[in-house]
Amino acid sequence: MAAFRHLLLALSLVSITILSAATNITEILAAYPEYSEFNDLLSQTKLADEINSREPVTVCVLPNGGLSTYTGKYPISVIKSILSLHVLLDYFDGPKLHKISEGSILSTTLYQTTGNADGKLGFVNITVLRGGKVGFGSGIPGSPLDSTFTKSVKQVPYNVSVIEVSQAIAPAEILTAAPPAADVNITALLVKAGCKNFASLIVSTGVLKVYESALDNGLTIFAPNDEAFKAEDAPDLSTLTNAELVSILQYHALATYSPIGTLKETKDKITTLATNGAGKYALGVTTKGDSVSLDTGVDISRIASTVLDSTPLCIFTIDSLLLPMELFGKPPSPAPAPAPETSPSQSPAADAPAPESSAAPAPVLSPPAPPTNSPSDAPSDGPTDDSQNSSSDNSAGVLESPVSMKTVLTVAGSVFAYVLWS
Ligand SMILES: *[C@@H]1O[C@H](CO)[C@@H](O)[C@H](O)[C@H]1NC(C)=O
Ligand SMILES: *[C@@H]1O[C@H](CO)[C@@H](O)[C@H](O)[C@H]1NC(C)=O
Ligand SMILES: *[C@@H]1O[C@H](CO)[C@@H](O)[C@H](O)[C@H]1NC(C)=O
Ligand SMILES: *[C@@H]1O[C@H](CO)[C@@H](O)[C@H](O)[C@H]1NC(C)=O
Ligand SMILES: *[C@@H]1O[C@H](CO)[C@@H](O)[C@H](O)[C@H]1NC(C)=O
Repeated sequence: MAAFRHLLLALSLVSITILSAATNITEILAAYPEYSEFNDLLSQTKLADEINSREPVTVCVLPNGGLSTYTGKYPISVIKSILSLHVLLDYFDGPKLHKISEGSILSTTLYQTTGNADGKLGFVNITVLRGGKVGFGSGIPGSPLDSTFTKSVKQVPYNVSVIEVSQAIAPAEILTAAPPAADVNITALLVKAGCKNFASLIVSTGVLKVYESALDNGLTIFAPNDEAFKAEDAPDLSTLTNAELVSILQYHALATYSPIGTLKETKDKITTLATNGAGKYALGVTTKGDSVSLDTGVDISRIASTVLDSTPLCIFTIDSLLLPMELFGKPPSPAPAPAPETSPSQSPAADAPAPESSAAPAPVLSPPAPPTNSPSDAPSDGPTDDSQNSSSDNSAGVLESPVSMKTVLTVAGSVFAYVLWS
């Protein structure tokens, strides 16, 4: 069994190497300076991560200047919507475009996957025109096909294709679709998404203002839903100092725009708004199929839903509170601190210790997490996890055997393809 596991591990490493070599759209386009603006925008909007995680995919690029009608005149969220209409979730190269059956099809685009697309707005109509040109237009019936295929740029059959088109596909509906982030009412969205507790905490502690001041340069919020606060193993927040509570709430947000595709591509630990030093208050990200989880080192929380993905703001709901190692990663102390409500003179904010201080009273909580003196070490790969009860039902799934069924299937597929190929 052990030998079998080792074999699988070795094979999966090989397959990971093959897969990760598959697509890096940024690198592909870097070889073509005439598309540098388009390439920069793909990175800025994080669509590059989304493209890299998909196969088959066709990117319809525009030469520099091709988006000048829109850049600077529309918010980046609208530019992102326009660009995502240029990412087709199918493989098209020159020959395939000219051989389209019946001469016309609708192709699904990345915009369709955002859930914002009404009717046929998320589709692109590709039609072979008289004279053999291939026209592109919005999938909305009656839209003009005024963008045409000009040339093939780069093909990796039949997974990734980059083609050039003559002008942007930007139907009027998309220019008005996305609300500007500055007008978004974060608390109202959170309440509507079932995160009323979290919403009132960020208002009462003033952390909402911290979020709002980070908004312009990108903000991602992981909001625990109301059930998360009711869970048996949820910490008793009333025993925390105000400063500790603020740290925890800041730990639930990133100072970057990180949509789900970007989180999926994340390999290193990510810093949060609570991070106050290298490796402090950081989060690990684990992906299993379409499920993305956040690993604090103390607990694992699954991303349950996307409330908003509109550059520069992302809001997700998560199904348990994120418990930072810095506050919860200590061995349980036998004597809990006296209940705060019995000490009348103290205002919690007045004498609140700095959250990173190791002398801060630790709320009694979960079983001991292994490394107490080196919080930056990733504890998730430690075998000690087996000895503790999982804090939520999903954590068991995430911490499962390192060789997932999907990997096995992928390996089997790669081996099979290799045998056929050679
Ligand atoms: C194309 O995709 C298939 C299926 O995902 C994969 O097995 C193959 O390695 C890919 N080919 C290249 C050249 O990336
Ligand atoms: C893709 O390539 C760019 C430029 O070479 C590099 O900066 C980036 O880290 C690469 N992305 C991935 C996911 O490997
Ligand atoms: C594409 O657009 C043309 C022109 O508006 C229309 O005639 C054709 O039916 C459309 N194709 C599809 C598949 O909807
Ligand atoms: C945002 O929504 C909340 C709750 O619905 C409301 O109390 C608050 O006044 C709103 N803020 C703004 C600036 O409209
Ligand atoms: C831990 O899990 C086991 C099996 O699921 C259960 O029997 C036991 O009561 C749990 N212990 C605690 C402390 O929750």
